[in-house]
Amino acid sequence: MQQSKDMKTTVGAITPQVLSYTAGEDVDLDRQLIDADCIGTAAHVTMLAAMPLKPPLFSKVQRDRIIDGLVRIMQDARRERFQITLKDQDVHLAVERVLTARLGDLGRKVHTGRSRNDQVAVDLRLFAKEQMLATTAELGVLADALLKFGYRHRVVPMVGRTHMQPAMPSSVGLWASAYAEGLLEDQVMLQAAYEINDRCPLGSAAGYGVPLPIDRRLTSDLLGFRRPYHNVICAANGRGKLETATLMALSQIMTTLSRLAQDLMIFTMPEFGYFKLPSSMCTGSSIMPQKNNPDILELLRARAARLTADAMVVAEITRALPAGYNRDLQETKAPFMRGFLLARSALQVMTPLLNGLRVDQEALLRGFSPAVFATDRALALARQGMPFRE
Ligand code: ARG
Repeated sequence: MQQSKDMKTTVGAITPQVLSYTAGEDVDLDRQLIDADCIGTAAHVTMLAAMPLKPPLFSKVQRDRIIDGLVRIMQDARRERFQITLKDQDVHLAVERVLTARLGDLGRKVHTGRSRNDQVAVDLRLFAKEQMLATTAELGVLADALLKFGYRHRVVPMVGRTHMQPAMPSSVGLWASAYAEGLLEDQVMLQAAYEINDRCPLGSAAGYGVPLPIDRRLTSDLLGFRRPYHNVICAANGRGKLETATLMALSQIMTTLSRLAQDLMIFTMPEFGYFKLPSSMCTGSSIMPQKNNPDILELLRARAARLTADAMVVAEITRALPAGYNRDLQETKAPFMRGFLLARSALQVMTPLLNGLRVDQEALLRGFSPAVFATDRALALARQGMPFRE
C-alpha cells in the first residue's frame, strides 16, 4: 500500500488518495462555474452586509472590497490566471482561498451562513440559466432556417413514407416545417426545466437553513431568480431533479435532430438524390477520392444516444438518494454540462447545413409512382358515394 502523508485542506486533513478520489473531475469542470461562484458569492455577501446584526457582519466598505475581490478573480480567470488546485478540491474553496489571501479575515467571513451544498446548487443554476437561454436562441435560429427552407420549397413534391415505403403525396415544405414545429414543441420541455431552474436554493445552506436572520428573497432577487425555494430541504433535493429535467429536454431536442439527420442521410444517398449536402460540410476519405461523407449527421446521431444515456445516468444517480445533500450529486455535474455542449453544438451545426442544402426536384419527382396516388383515388371515389371498403 502506498504510504502517504495527510494533506491539510480547508475542510480537514485527508490522504492524497482520498483527496483525488473525492475531488474527481471538479478541478476541471468547476472552471465553468467561476463566474457563477463569484456572482453568487457577491449576492450572498451583499445580503450578509444587510443582515440586521449589531454590529453588522460587514460594513458597506468591506462589502465593496469583497465584491471588488470577486470581480478581480473573474478577470484573472479570463486571463488564465486563476487556478483551481487539487488541494482546493473545487471552485468554491479556490475562490475562498484567493479572497482570503488578498483580504485576510474578510475572506474568511464570506462563508458565513452558507454551505458548499447551496453554493454549488446556486452556481449550477446560474450556469444553467445562461446555457438554457443560449440553447433556446440557437433552437429558434434552426427552427427559423427549417421554416424558411420549407417555405422556399413549399410546392416541391415529395413522396411521404410510412415503413420507409412510398405512401402518400407530400411536399418538401411539409417535411421541413415538421421539424421546425417539432423543435418548438421540444422547447416546451426546456421551458419547463427553465422554470424549475428559476428558483434560488441559496440560504438552504447544508439543506436545513441557518440560525441567522438571512434574507433569501434578497439573494434570489439579486441573482435574478423568480423566487427562492419555500422549503430548504426541497431546495437541496432539487439538485439531481433539475439536471434530470434539463437533460430529458435536451435529449428530446437531440432526438428530433437525430431523426432529421437520419432523413438527410437517406435522402442524400445517390440512390435517392433528393437533397445534396453542402460539400464544405462533408468530409472526404483517406483512400477514396470521390467521397463526400455526412460525418456531421452520423456524429449527431451518435451524440443523441449519448445525451439520452446521460439523462438516464443522472436520473439513476438521483433515484435512490435520501433527502438532503449526498455527494453522489457531484457525479451529475459532468453529464449536465456535457448535455448542453452536445445539444448546442448540434443545433449550431445543423443551421448552416440546412441553409446550404440543395434540392433536386427531378429526383424528388422520380420517387412518385402511380401507386402513391392510390389513397387519393380511393377517397375521390368515396366522395362520390362509393363505400370506402369497396
Ligand atoms: N463538489 C461538491 C459537489 O459538487 C461540492 C459540495 C461539497 N459538499 C460536501 N458536503 N462535501 O457536490
